[in-house]
This record gives sequence, structure tokens and C-alpha cells, in this order.
Amino acid sequence: MTTDKITLHRGLSGVYFDRTETTFIDGKEGKLLYRGYNIHDLAGVASFEETSYLLMYGELPTQSQLDEFDGVLKANRNIPSEIVDIITLVKNDHPMSVLRTAVSALSAFDPEAEDNSPEATLRKGIRLTSQVPTIVMAHHNIRNGRAPIAPSENLSHAANFLYMMEGEEPTAGTAALMDTDFVLHADHGSNASAFTARAVASTNAHLHDAITAGIGALSGPSHGGAAENVMTMALDIGEAENAEQYVKDLLAGGDRVMGFGHRVYRAEDPRARHLREGVRKLSEEKGEPKWYGILEAVQKAMAPYGRRGIHVNVDFFAGVIYYLNGIPHDLFVPIFAVGRIPGWTVQVIEQFEHNILLRPLLQYAGPEERKYVPVSER
Ligand SMILES: CC(C)(COP(=O)(O)OP(=O)(O)OC[C@H]1O[C@@H](n2cnc3c(N)ncnc32)[C@H](O)[C@@H]1OP(=O)(O)O)[C@@H](O)C(=O)NCCC(=O)NCCS
Repeated sequence: MTTDKITLHRGLSGVYFDRTETTFIDGKEGKLLYRGYNIHDLAGVASFEETSYLLMYGELPTQSQLDEFDGVLKANRNIPSEIVDIITLVKNDHPMSVLRTAVSALSAFDPEAEDNSPEATLRKGIRLTSQVPTIVMAHHNIRNGRAPIAPSENLSHAANFLYMMEGEEPTAGTAALMDTDFVLHADHGSNASAFTARAVASTNAHLHDAITAGIGALSGPSHGGAAENVMTMALDIGEAENAEQYVKDLLAGGDRVMGFGHRVYRAEDPRARHLREGVRKLSEEKGEPKWYGILEAVQKAMAPYGRRGIHVNVDFFAGVIYYLNGIPHDLFVPIFAVGRIPGWTVQVIEQFEHNILLRPLLQYAGPEERKYVPVSER
């Protein structure tokens, strides 16, 4: 057994394992750039379609490039009837598990499933970007005993997603907020799900494998599950005046306040501000300002944690936005996945472009070498 001095980097915290040209994060400053463009210049201005093009092709599209890209996204929204059958078979599972199963099965119907060239991987990523919202909402309807609502051929990505929920077109304001939410979730460096997708791609497995694994990683409450938990917390709190005591009790019990803290950001997550404003407006529009009030009160109660670099993250405000739009709690994480497909896709392409097997080491801490004893002598 080795006696070499080993430095452990638990959680791979602070470890750079490769280069990326996609997303830049400065955790101290609270800065996020997609391909060099500040998230504050994109959110609420560039559509999800435009942002996806930027991430996937590296440059902002011209109007004609954007129109063509938008046409491709719209043309790929349908899913095979076999996938609808599979969703029906597993409809009682959590929507993230249903999504994982459906994306995994989609490779059987993708004509380029096994082709790992950058061009084919990009085309598959674009198809998945279009298909994932359809899967999420098909499941929503199937588990409620209804037939899936066919995707619209005209609506934007965000508006179509909301349309497929109940068959009603959302207002322009609601669609715009959903669109901003997707833009804010489109990519975020080497988070657990993107790292997982890269680790799978590093074995030269294909995009559907990588994204299936990424969905699994995203489903946990330390990653994508936080928005769902924030809403549960807001409902438990009930009224803003209860927030301070609720937070105190939570922390005294050694629990974490969901929607706070981040592995990389020590300043406020720059994505949070765009959703904060969205929640404020939406909760007023819907005549339910108490939700914004509760979130404000939780933030106030957590203010002392700011000194330790623990601030709100993107998920803190997202949950209430979904709730006010009538979206069931367990669809909150799948919404994150809907936004993240372009990011996972470009990271898998980057991984393929200068691939190296991701294979770190574990320091052995088990028993010393010992003699095998046959079962009859034990
Ligand atoms: C995201 C998260 C997993 C990052 O954690 P991390 O970088 O591994 O940091 P750690 O878990 O080591 O936490 C460091 C310290 O901050 C505290 N802390 C971190 N997040 C906290 C939170 N949300 N509430 C209260 N305390 C928190 C930890 O208890 C720990 O304190 P200690 O040093 O006294 O033990 C963590 O902040 C968390 O669990 N947040 C809540 C879930 C969430 O919102 N996730 C969405 C992320 S976008």
C-alpha cells in the first residue's frame, strides 16, 4: 500500500480539470458570462432560442440565422408514439425519473444516435432541446388521465412549454418570464450534472447517454431539486411574519435553508436578481403578494450568513414563479432540465473535441492486505 503523501480534494472543490470556451463564472464577483456575454445583458433581452444558438454555435445569430434555428427547433418538437407509450408505463414515477427514462429511450429513435461527430452531436442536442419540453408536459397530462397536448408549431419555446401544460396560450408576460428562466438555466460551468455528462462523454458514449446521466445528477436536492424545496418551505412558512422563527429553527436543527449557498458563488448568484424582480411583479399581478413577502423575509433572516458567503441562488426565486403559474411542484426540476439541454450539449461537444478519459483516484482507507479464509473455516 502506498505511503506517498496524498492531497485529497474532496468534492473536487477548487479543482480545474479542463478548459471551456462556453461559460465563465467569477464566484467572488458574482459574474456569469455565456460565450463572453454578461448574463445581465442577455436575461430578459435575448430569447432562449437566441441564447441556445449563442451557446451552441459560439456567436450571436443574425436575424436570418435565428429564424432558421427557430424553425429547426419548432420542427423537432414531436416525440415518437413509442415514447408516449413508455411515459404511460412509468407515469407514476417522479417526473425527473420519467424524463430520464424517456430521454434514454429516445436514442432508439434518433437516426444519428451513435454518431459522436460534433455536427451530429449538435443536431441531436437541438432535437433534444425541442423534445424534452414535450416529454415533460406529455407526462404531466398522461398522469392526470388526459391525452398529451400536441406541441404548437408557432409559439416560442417558452410559450409552447406552458401551452402544452393545459392547452392554453400563456400571456406575453408569463411567457417572457419563463423564457428568462430558461436563459438563466442554459449553462453553468462544471456543475454536478454537466460534470456527469462530461464523464460519460469521456468514455466516448453518446449524447443521449451523457444527458440521461446528467438528468440523474440534476434530480438531487443539492442541485436541481432546490427550487421544489424552496416552495415547500414557503408554503410551510405560510406568512412573512413566521419566516424569521422558521429559519432560526431550521438552522438550529442543523438543516440548510434551501435556495441559499453555492459551491462557486461567494457573492450573490447573478441569476437570482432577474428572477427576484420576476417574482415581485408576478406575485402582485396574481394578487398574491404574500409569496414575495415570504421570500423577502427569509432573505432578511439569512442576511447574517452573507458574511460567510452564503447568499440566495437562482433556485430561491424560481420555485415561486412556477407555483404562481400553476405548475405542480414536482415539475420544477424538469423545468431546470428543459433549460439546461443546450449547456449539456455544448459541454459534451467540448469534451469530445479534446477528449481525455475522466478517471480520478481514490485514496484507499480500507483494511491492510489480509489472508483469504475459505468460507468453511470462517
Ligand atoms: C449548494 C450547496 C450544496 C453548496 O455547498 P458546498 O459548497 O458543498 O458548501 P458546504 O456544504 O461545505 O457548506 C459550507 C458551510 O456553509 C453552510 N451552508 C451552506 N449552504 C447553506 C444553506 N443553504 N443554509 C445554511 N447553511 C449553509 C454549511 O452548513 C457549512 O457550514 P459549516 O462550515 O459550519 O459546516 C449548499 O449551499 C446547499 O446545500 N444549499 C442548499 C441547496 C440549494 O439551494 N442548492 C441549489 C444550488 S444552485
